[in-house]
Amino acid sequence: MILDLEGTKILVTGAAGFIGSNLTDTFLEKGAHVIGLDNLFNGRMENLGIALQNPIFTFHKADIRDYDFLLEICKDIDIIFHEAAFTSVPQSVKMPISCNEVNVGGTLNILNAARVRDVEAIIFASSSSVYGDTPTLPKREDMSLIPISPYGAAKLACEKYLYTYYKVYGLNTIALRYFNVYGPRQKDSTYSGVIPIWLGRIYRNENPIVFGDGEQRRDFTYIKDVVDANLLAGVAKNISGEVFNIGASSPITVNKLAVIMKKVCGKEHLGIDYTDPRPGDIRDSFADIVKAKEILKFEPKFNIQTGLEAYIEWSKSRNFAL
Ligand SMILES: NC(=O)c1ccc[n+]([C@@H]2O[C@H](COP(=O)([O-])OP(=O)(O)OC[C@H]3O[C@@H](n4cnc5c(N)ncnc54)[C@H](O)[C@@H]3O)[C@@H](O)[C@H]2O)c1
Repeated sequence: MILDLEGTKILVTGAAGFIGSNLTDTFLEKGAHVIGLDNLFNGRMENLGIALQNPIFTFHKADIRDYDFLLEICKDIDIIFHEAAFTSVPQSVKMPISCNEVNVGGTLNILNAARVRDVEAIIFASSSSVYGDTPTLPKREDMSLIPISPYGAAKLACEKYLYTYYKVYGLNTIALRYFNVYGPRQKDSTYSGVIPIWLGRIYRNENPIVFGDGEQRRDFTYIKDVVDANLLAGVAKNISGEVFNIGASSPITVNKLAVIMKKVCGKEHLGIDYTDPRPGDIRDSFADIVKAKEILKFEPKFNIQTGLEAYIEWSKSRNFAL
């Protein structure tokens, strides 16, 4: 994709995380000057191994709850890609106040610093969790939104603040609702997405564990497609205040995912273990991406098979140390 970011000054929040570090590497490849910010709550410096070798990259261990710091750092920034967040749905059920402080309070700090410093655009990492358990499928941007977790409610509050900052202050804000992103640098930890957790288990010859009956459907989106969507949003004109679904738009059941993953890993002999559904988890979720296709010209290039192959290839090169 040829999108000119040469010389653009970009702030990536959550830069040491899974999505933020992949964005950072791509922006640097395109000649942008990148400032990465992360408090390392969940991020890892090793994710920035390539970026740190680049003289046009600067990293700050800092917190988005620190408004004065944001005000200082946003002085010369053209575009902000705001990825930093309290990212775990089950953790948000246990710690709703912390989730709100980081996700809503932190995002409001970013928006206000961007307003004061005349930042040209803010691209926000929203989430499919804003839809909640509404029965209509696929999820369309103009549907009613009924989040069923503090995480989803906080992302929705952020979207509303983005829109308000556009309407009231003329700030150029865009929200991208990601649907289950996976790929290199995603952590294998209790609170990660299902794919790295299962990859770790399959590699250790343990059965994947399914919450519920496994017939819940999901859209799994490969990281490179999410990076492309951000690039397109970053250079788009006249779409301030808009929200876009970013997904593969190709749903599969969790049971089917387990079968494909075992096959791609050459571990078809493994079984599947079932346990209770988790509170806050949505039953079915997949994206209608017509709006992103029409307006952003977004086209996902990876399906679940090709995305998993690319991810597993990368994982093998690290001996499955995710
Ligand atoms: N991965 C997905 O499937 C998915 C789906 C929907 C939305 N999102 C959103 O995309 C964004 C990136 O998610 P990710 O998967 O890369 O998660 P991640 O946890 O790998 O990255 C988030 C980063 O934010 C940092 N962070 C947390 N609190 C912070 C704070 N107070 N100040 C500064 N940094 C802080 C963490 O250390 C981490 O590096 C998040 O906003 C997340 O909610 C992700």
